[in-house]
Amino acid sequence: MFLHCSSILFLLCFALQSFYLANSQSFIGVNYGQVADNLPPPSATAKLLQSTIIEKVRLYGADPAIIIALANTGISIVIGTTNGDIPALASDPNFAVQWVNSNVLAYYPASKIILITVGNEVMTSGDQNLMGQLLPAMQNIQNAINGASLGGKIKVSTVHAMSVLAQSEPPSSGSFNSSFGDTMRSLLQFLQANGSPFMINPYPFFAYQSDPRAETLAFCLFQPNAGRVDSGTGINYMNMFDAQVDAVRSALNAMGFKDIEIVVAETGWPYKGDANEVGPSVDNARAYNGNLINHLKSMVGTPLMPGKSVDTYLFALYDEDLKPGAGSERSFGLFNPNLSMTYDVGLLKSNQTPATPAPITPETPVSPSTPAIPLTPVTPATPVIPTTPVTPPAGVYGIAISCKQQHSRLLILVIMVAFTLFGLPVRGDDILL
Ligand SMILES: *[C@@H]1O[C@H](CO)[C@@H](O)[C@H](O)[C@H]1NC(C)=O
Ligand SMILES: *[C@@H]1O[C@H](CO)[C@@H](O)[C@H](O)[C@H]1NC(C)=O
Repeated sequence: MFLHCSSILFLLCFALQSFYLANSQSFIGVNYGQVADNLPPPSATAKLLQSTIIEKVRLYGADPAIIIALANTGISIVIGTTNGDIPALASDPNFAVQWVNSNVLAYYPASKIILITVGNEVMTSGDQNLMGQLLPAMQNIQNAINGASLGGKIKVSTVHAMSVLAQSEPPSSGSFNSSFGDTMRSLLQFLQANGSPFMINPYPFFAYQSDPRAETLAFCLFQPNAGRVDSGTGINYMNMFDAQVDAVRSALNAMGFKDIEIVVAETGWPYKGDANEVGPSVDNARAYNGNLINHLKSMVGTPLMPGKSVDTYLFALYDEDLKPGAGSERSFGLFNPNLSMTYDVGLLKSNQTPATPAPITPETPVSPSTPAIPLTPVTPATPVIPTTPVTPPAGVYGIAISCKQQHSRLLILVIMVAFTLFGLPVRGDDILL
């Protein structure tokens, strides 16, 4: 009896992948909205984020205090231009250069800015002028980024509401509203040419609100349900998130843009709302966000994009108490202003040591040296993956590095071929991929 070399490699890769995933979820981000008057100081937020598995933060603007607070934290930052900036960005290349100088170059690379969103939900704003100016504005920002030799390092995109799709059910029939015509095609050509992602805001919460049946709730919350068969492909979808993301995939594919990556710029579930709102509750919010995070961590992907997790920015870090509209609009926060969790969805790092809560200072004095604010003691919701040190023998060190990547299966095959070439006993049928 002996274990084939390939089996050992596979197990080693699996162990290493688990090890790296235990504390690093590069695909989990969070939205940091600021329509509020009770937010903690940016420095306290930076500390809070470092105690979580969140590795990316999306700002709606480019608040210098936050960008500076996130410097040298390892946390990646998405910043945005406002919709109001778009006309000037579109018509004046110098304005775009200035925008990049003062909002990016002033802080980069200490502050790890990875992406600039030009406007928010412009294509569904109903403002034809603004829609026409969106791509020229993106192009001028891209030119400014290229001019600073940051092309490819900092991507340029824009964020869309799900309603850019005219159809999303079944997922394989996903298609963009044809009234966009060439505007959408040109936008997608820009994204493809620059390797930029298509950013979208899928909200199973709203899907449930428009179809408030028990089986729809289970489908939206990743809870046991019969699934929904896509009549176009025969795929049985088990949750709304996958169905919505794959509808976007289908819409992009239908226009011939199969290699544009999708980024979920916002998704979330409110933990409370007005009496007449169906859906908001702590239990539902915990189920949606907790199950979504586990779904992403599992790396299972969606039926149309298996084996990898779509970059997902949860909505939201804090409640935004000054937002207008229904009560739920002000109740998406994962953390309270005093930095305690609203409810536990397993975002804290598994090695987080409980600390004693301390009094919290309110927002107003943004002194650069805000004292560290310890978190309330918590038990991680997700089982802790054992982190026994996995030290690979020197000879397979290259494999250890490969295993960190998402396409490890393909890489294992490549490694197997290499081993075969060197005459080692590797048989492909030893591995069930
Ligand atoms: C497509 O967009 C137009 C213009 O905004 C809108 O009137 C129409 O309802 C949309 N169609 C669908 C199917 O969403
Ligand atoms: C933090 O705020 C939440 C929500 O207001 C409250 O329930 C909790 O008791 C507070 N925790 C501390 C330590 O002050």
